[in-house]
Amino acid sequence: MVLGVGGSNSGDLRADPSTRSLDGKPIRRYEPPRGDVHPDRSLGWIRRLAPIVLAHKGAFLGTLFLALLANLLQVALPAILRTGIDRALTSRSEPLAKYVWLLLIVGLVRALLTLIYRAGLYRTAFGIDSDLRNRLYEHLTRLSFNYYDRVQSGQIISRANSDIRSVQLFLTFAPLMLMTLVMFVVALGYMLSIHVRLTLVAVLPLPGVYWLGVRLRNELFPLSWIVQGRQADVATIVDENIQGVRVIRSFAAERRQIDELARAATALRWANIRTADTRARHNPVIENLPRLGMMLVLVYGGRLVIDGQATPGTLFAFTAYVTMLQAPFRQFGLFLMMGQRARASASRIFEILDEAPEIVDRPDAVDLVLARGEVEFDDVSFGYSSGGQVLRHLSMRVEPGETVAIVGRTGSGKSTIARLLARFYEVDDGAVRIDGHDIRDLTLQSLRSTVGSVTDEPFLFSVSLADNIAYAVPDAPRSEIEAVARAAQADHFITDLPEGYDAVVGERGYTLSGGQRQRIAIARTLLAEPAVLVLDDATSAIDVHVEERIHEALAARLGRCTTLVIAHRLSTIALADRVILLDEGRVVASGTHRELMATEPRYAEVLSHLEGASPEDVEDLR
Ligand SMILES: Nc1ncnc2c1ncn2[C@@H]1O[C@H](COP(=O)(O)OP(=O)(O)O)[C@@H](O)[C@H]1O
Ligand SMILES: [Mg+2]
Repeated sequence: MVLGVGGSNSGDLRADPSTRSLDGKPIRRYEPPRGDVHPDRSLGWIRRLAPIVLAHKGAFLGTLFLALLANLLQVALPAILRTGIDRALTSRSEPLAKYVWLLLIVGLVRALLTLIYRAGLYRTAFGIDSDLRNRLYEHLTRLSFNYYDRVQSGQIISRANSDIRSVQLFLTFAPLMLMTLVMFVVALGYMLSIHVRLTLVAVLPLPGVYWLGVRLRNELFPLSWIVQGRQADVATIVDENIQGVRVIRSFAAERRQIDELARAATALRWANIRTADTRARHNPVIENLPRLGMMLVLVYGGRLVIDGQATPGTLFAFTAYVTMLQAPFRQFGLFLMMGQRARASASRIFEILDEAPEIVDRPDAVDLVLARGEVEFDDVSFGYSSGGQVLRHLSMRVEPGETVAIVGRTGSGKSTIARLLARFYEVDDGAVRIDGHDIRDLTLQSLRSTVGSVTDEPFLFSVSLADNIAYAVPDAPRSEIEAVARAAQADHFITDLPEGYDAVVGERGYTLSGGQRQRIAIARTLLAEPAVLVLDDATSAIDVHVEERIHEALAARLGRCTTLVIAHRLSTIALADRVILLDEGRVVASGTHRELMATEPRYAEVLSHLEGASPEDVEDLR
């Protein structure tokens, strides 16, 4: 089961206690999108999006139907006016009030329908938008580390946001455009049925309307890209000024930063002014084209009325239709442009969605329960996709309950071992086994609850300290949270805070030091009770004496948990039952600290480079 988002799993999720928050209130559960993007890459973008749109087809079609009615009523209004003028005013054969009421009612109904269909349209559009968004974010959570090594996640998110928006805008605009076209055809048909020549005069300015619209967009479109790019430039500079405020201050480089910002702001201002100028030049013409059309109709239609070839009502109605006819011509170019944009956006969204998660459960994957914690690397070779071999035929074995220190130079592959053990990356050759099971045969869920790793730069969420610690076990009682915090030597600094365990990380200037963060992370992993604990430099920022107490508490708490310690301190290494010496991605020696000191010159060599190690220390530990 991957992430439990499929429809059939939703029942399990409901029963899962992790869907309740600490105070017992149900947490809002994730509703999987109702539709998915079509997996066939050879289909066109609209076809690929269709399942997501079709998942909302009830609301969508209902909305379209109402829109159609509203638009037909819009066409009906001038027709009623025409009949009213001719029958009630010119020939006086019917009462005027009848037409006034009719106009009022039709107008009101149309307004109401417009209100409903617009609201419905936006609802559906946002439903599609949020489905697409959820689908994308869900996919991003499944992609492997390998993917994130290649791309910048911040960029993906911001690009995806604007891409989803452009697709959503198009999906909202396209039906409206369709309705405008229907309105055009019906109105044109009606006009032709009344007076062919007058209709021809009314459509005379339409090519001009289209041409002007295209010209305006051709000028505005490149400008809008420039504006967007420059807005991003300004945002980046502002962001760096805030993120890097300490560096900037320490080099007294404020002036330079402000100059840079001013330059970017000036460039943005130029682009904005150009945009406004272009609009100012074109808009008066475009806005007055309907009036030009009306004038033509009045001149020619007025002649017809005087000559008795048309009724005054017809003339009235036609002046109203002129405006209606121009709408699609004004919008069609915009529609095409939005379509092109949405298409490009959709293809970028598909690019992410088509990226297959590399590391997934095998169909027959088994759950590892109550692991003993035996770890074996069997002839493992591995390299990151961007570089050469990191591990070369590495073999090692750690017995259940054993504490092993992995020692090696920087870059020798220690952290890589930790990442492979949790299957964040897939080995190129050989196998990693836990309790004799190849980890590729285990479910990721059970593997990752068996292997708990803490790194030197742990990530904390912007929630309370208690919630950070209880991340893996959201329903853990407070007493348990406090117990693991004590073991990780974190309770002293937490209880010293005014809000204690409820202090929110990163809020109101309250930030933790590196060592405090590491202790929270250790507590968090302890609470999950892993059978195999990996401490990858996890105590690098913690004081030696505190570290010793942590190790004592760990031993007491975890009992016979298998522990891999990657450490840069002699004191930590000395605590291990056994030391494995790594060099250039290979195990070059294994034995107790004493044995290695006696027999392995490379060991003493590596140790002499460790933090705080003087040759005398190394001698002392002998
Ligand atoms: N995500 C990554 N992508 C590409 N290369 C990496 C990545 N992580 C580590 N490496 C490279 O792999 C080698 C081993 O790294 P690592 O296991 O982190 O070493 P250690 O923890 O022993 O210092 C180094 O040469 C490092 O540059
Ligand atoms: Mg490392």
